[in-house]
Amino acid sequence: MNKVYSMSDYQSSTADQSGPYTIALASGKGGVGKSFVASSLAICFARMSYRVCLIDLDFGSANIHTYLGMVPHGGGLTDFIKDRVTDINQLMLPSGINNLSIISGNNDSLDMANVTEDEYSKILAAIPKLSCDVVILDLGAGTGNSTLDSFASADLSLMTVTPEPTSIENAYRFLKSAFYRKLKVSEHNAGVQEIIEEAMDQQNQLNIRSPKDLLNYLNQNHMYNTQEFMRELESFELGIILNQVRSGRDIDVGKGVASISRNYFGIPVRYLGHVAHDNAVWQALRKKRPLLIDYPASPINNQFFAIAKLILGPKAKKAVV
Ligand SMILES: Nc1ncnc2c1ncn2[C@@H]1O[C@H](COP(=O)(O)OP(=O)(O)O)[C@@H](O)[C@H]1O
Ligand SMILES: [Mg+2]
Repeated sequence: MNKVYSMSDYQSSTADQSGPYTIALASGKGGVGKSFVASSLAICFARMSYRVCLIDLDFGSANIHTYLGMVPHGGGLTDFIKDRVTDINQLMLPSGINNLSIISGNNDSLDMANVTEDEYSKILAAIPKLSCDVVILDLGAGTGNSTLDSFASADLSLMTVTPEPTSIENAYRFLKSAFYRKLKVSEHNAGVQEIIEEAMDQQNQLNIRSPKDLLNYLNQNHMYNTQEFMRELESFELGIILNQVRSGRDIDVGKGVASISRNYFGIPVRYLGHVAHDNAVWQALRKKRPLLIDYPASPINNQFFAIAKLILGPKAKKAVV
């Protein structure tokens, strides 16, 4: 397996190298371009010679195949959940693009409401067994436990936001839920569930307004070893990609979101860059062809490659742009 560098490799060489490098893409709100970003990054990594597997976990509105110009088909994660396929590698479908496969969640009988947390966990547990270098998870919208867990357990957790108040609000809400979920399932957590539940109510009497406030409260009341949790958080690589940018002011919004999130959560959030709003996106969609393949003149190509290089670090020198 090619060694894949994560952002943390710059600071540490102790990153766990077992299984593929996993990137989860979330948005908090649907329709902001998460699947477009996921499929475009997947193409960039594949062109950078990584073997990439893109998994469509947006069961309710799975559409990764459309962004890659693939025809929908019957098989997918349902077969794995229902034990009709035991090796998850058998679900990998060639995309027609060198080095890029997809695993579809697409099945008429399957929507998010039908996938139990146990079934979802079964999928997550199988990901390290995938024979590839990089796995990208296109997560569903919303803050379900399974979505939050896949987000928090990835090597790199990415948020796609657009420069609109509703998208930004939902991104904060999502990050806050992910943070509290991580705290709840943390092994160092004993007896603080009730405080977390209370803190999640923005109007709570404890005057806890942010995750940082919550950690301070727990620390001051000697309820919790926040240092242990903070150490756990240090391995939480969080990045933001701003999509559908129309002006320079929009780019400032992206940087602002990253710095507010950093202050609010008390953990580093990296602004990875922006992707322009471009009519070529819907033109490509209408033709059912990948933008990065059929529209090489779009400025979006270079923007995605710049982000992809930031994510995969030194290895990006091999990139064919
Ligand atoms: N950079 C962009 N420029 C123009 N349109 C975009 C861009 N990104 C996404 N879109 C449009 O936004 C819509 C939603 O994108 P999609 O990736 O399917 O969203 P999500 O997966 O977040 O629900 C699509 O119709 C797509 O054409
Ligand atoms: Mg989508």
